[in-house]
Amino acid sequence: MTQEQAKSRITELKEKINYYNYLYYQKDISEVSDYEFDQLLQELIDLEEQFPALRLSDSPTQRVGGIITKAFETVYHKYPMLSLSNTYSQDELRDYDKRVDKGLDGESYEYICELKFDGVALSITYENNVLSKAITRGDGEKGDDITNNAKTIKTLPLKINGNSGGSIIEVRGEVFMSRKVFDRLNKEREDIGEAKLANPRNTASGTLKMQDSSVVAGRKLDCFLYALLGEGLQVKTHEEALKQLEEWRFKVSPTYRKCKNIEEVIEYIEHWETKRFELPLETDGIVVKVNSYEQQEVLGFTAKSPRWAIAYKYKAENAATVLKEISYQVGRTGAITPVANLEPVLLAGTTVKRASLHNANEIERLDLRIGDTVLVEKGGEIIPKITGVDVMKRPEGSEPVKYITTCPECGTPLIRKEGEALHYCPNERGCPPQIKGRIEHFIQRKAMDIDSLGARTIALLFEQKLLNNPADLYKLSYDDIFQLEGFKDLSTRNLLNGIEASKNIDFASVLFALGIRYVGRTVAEKLAVYFKSIDHLAAANFEELIDVPEIGERIAESVIEFFKDPENNRLIEELKNAGLQFAIEEKEVVVESNLLDAKSFVISGVFSSFNRDEIKEKIKNNGGKVVSGISGKVDYLVAGENMGPAKLEKAQKLGVNIISEQEFLAMINQS
Ligand code: IVH
Repeated sequence: MTQEQAKSRITELKEKINYYNYLYYQKDISEVSDYEFDQLLQELIDLEEQFPALRLSDSPTQRVGGIITKAFETVYHKYPMLSLSNTYSQDELRDYDKRVDKGLDGESYEYICELKFDGVALSITYENNVLSKAITRGDGEKGDDITNNAKTIKTLPLKINGNSGGSIIEVRGEVFMSRKVFDRLNKEREDIGEAKLANPRNTASGTLKMQDSSVVAGRKLDCFLYALLGEGLQVKTHEEALKQLEEWRFKVSPTYRKCKNIEEVIEYIEHWETKRFELPLETDGIVVKVNSYEQQEVLGFTAKSPRWAIAYKYKAENAATVLKEISYQVGRTGAITPVANLEPVLLAGTTVKRASLHNANEIERLDLRIGDTVLVEKGGEIIPKITGVDVMKRPEGSEPVKYITTCPECGTPLIRKEGEALHYCPNERGCPPQIKGRIEHFIQRKAMDIDSLGARTIALLFEQKLLNNPADLYKLSYDDIFQLEGFKDLSTRNLLNGIEASKNIDFASVLFALGIRYVGRTVAEKLAVYFKSIDHLAAANFEELIDVPEIGERIAESVIEFFKDPENNRLIEELKNAGLQFAIEEKEVVVESNLLDAKSFVISGVFSSFNRDEIKEKIKNNGGKVVSGISGKVDYLVAGENMGPAKLEKAQKLGVNIISEQEFLAMINQS
C-alpha cells in the first residue's frame, strides 16, 4: 500500500469509527457488531503502525490513553470562564426578569433554560476542526491543560463532524461521571478494601487531574456541551449554537427548552425539581440564558458574571423524620458500616427508610440519639444522608448513641486501626458475612466467573457447612447441590459445570479472586504479568514488589501480609490441587513433529478449525515459532477469515508467504 492509499483508507476508517462511536455512545444504537468494530479499529492501529506519519491527534486510536502527564501546564483562557449569579427564590428570578426587560428597553426576548450539571467545567479548543486543547476552568482566567485526559472522553469528538467555519473555535461544557459509573467504581473499591469516594463531582474532578490517561479512560467520564465561542461563527442565538453543536456530534443534553417568558421558566423549574433525580447525572439547579446573542451583548457583564444569564439553584430536598435505630453491616473485609433506620418519609418523590451514616465519627459529630428527629437530605448517592438533628424535639433523658464495640454478626471485639475512620471485625475466618463475602468476591464475573452461583446459594451452602472457603467449592458433589432448596437436575449440573470451567480461568483473574486487600482487577493483572506465578509473587519482598510499575507501598505491604498468613497459603495449596491456574500459562510444548522446522508464523483473522490460541499451540507443538508483527523476517502469514487488508498488503510487500488455514493444516499433515 502506498502512503497515498494508506492515507485515504485511514480517513475512511476514522470516519466510520467516529460515526459508530457516536451512534453507540450518544444514540444508544449499535449498527455494527463489537467484532466488526474491533476489526476496523485494529486495521486502523495496524495502518498507523505501518505509516506512523499518518497517526494524527484526531485518530480514535488516541482515546485509549497511555500518556503520562507529570505536571499539568497552566494555560490562560482566550475568553475568561466566568461564573453565574445564583438565586434560590422564584421572586428573585422574577426580579431578574424585570432587569432583563429593562436592560432590553422593552424589546421582546426569549430564554433558553438548561439544567445546571454538577460536574467540572471544561473549555475545549478546536483548531481547523481538530481538538487541540482542553483546559479546566481554574480561577476563570487560567486553568490546567488536561488535553490528553479529555481525549479519553468517548462522547467528546476529536474532530468536528462538518465545517466549523472559523479556524479556531472553543466549546464549553461540563465533564461528569454518571451515577451508574460512580456507584460501580465505589462498589469495586469497597470490594478490595479501598476507601469509598465521596461523590461523582469530586471523582470526575480528581479523575481529570490523574497522571495516567489510561486510568482516566477506564473511568468512563462523559461530557455535556453548552456553549460555543469563536470568530466567524454563523449562529445568532444560543438555541442555534446548541443545534450546531449537536450537528457537529457534540453531546448536548436534550433537556433544554426555549421559554417565551418567566412563567414558562418557572414551569421548567418545577418540572425538573423532582424529575432531575431520574437523570443519569447530578444536577443542582437550572441555568436561564437570554437566547439572542445580540441581546446578550446589549445586556453585557458585571465584573464576575454575565447579565444575560442566571442560575436558579434547587434547595437541597430535605425532610424531617424520626431515627428508630442504628443497625450495623459487616462487609467482606470486616469493615463495619452503620445505617440509620428511619420512620418512612417522602423525600423528592421516593419513600426513605434508611440513611447512610458512614462511620462512628459521623454519629458523634451529629450527636445522634435514638428517637431524635433528624433531617435527611437527598444528595448524589442513592441512599440519602442525615444532615442535622432538631434538638428541640429531642426525647427527654435520651443518651448519645454508643457505637458498638463487638461485631453484630460474630461477637468479636471490634478494632479501629490508626488513622482509619472505620471499625473492623478482625475475625476474618469465623465471621459469617466475611466468609460469604470472600466467596462472593471469588466467584464474580471479573474473577472466577462462576455465574451459576449467587449470594443466595452461597448462603445456603454456608449454613449447611458445605462451604466455608473458596476451595470448598471444588469439593461439592452433585448431591450436595441437588438437595439445596430450588435446585433441580439441570441447575445442579450447570453449577458443577460452572465450577469445573473456572479451573481454566487465567492466573490474573485467580489472583484477583483471592481477595488480597487493595489488589483490584488491574493491579492483579500487573502483578500476574510481572511475576508470572503465585510462587514468584509469594516469594517477592517489599522492594521487589514496589519495583513493579504502578505498585505502591500500600499494595506491597498488603501482599506481604497476605502471604504471611498460613491460612492463605493453605487455601492456595488446596486451590492448586483442585487444578486452578496459578501461573501465566506458557503452555508446555507437546512435541508432535518438527515439520515446521523453526519457521516463524504470524496468524491473523478467524479460523474454522481452531481458535487463535489453539493454532498458536499447534505451531509450537510442531516446531514452529509464533511472532506478533509482520516483518521481513517472518516466514509465513496464516491468513484466516476477515483479516485486515493492511496486514495482508504488508506481508505481500515484504515477501512473506501467505497461506490459508487449509495450507497450514497440510504443512503439519493434518488436512
Ligand atoms: S453556562 C458565564 N450552562 O455552572 C458562565 N454553566 O456558575 C456560563 N454549569 O462554571 C456558564 N451547567 O461549570 C452554563 N447548562 C449550563 C451549566 C453550567 C453547569 C456550571 C459551569 C459554570 C458554573 C457557573
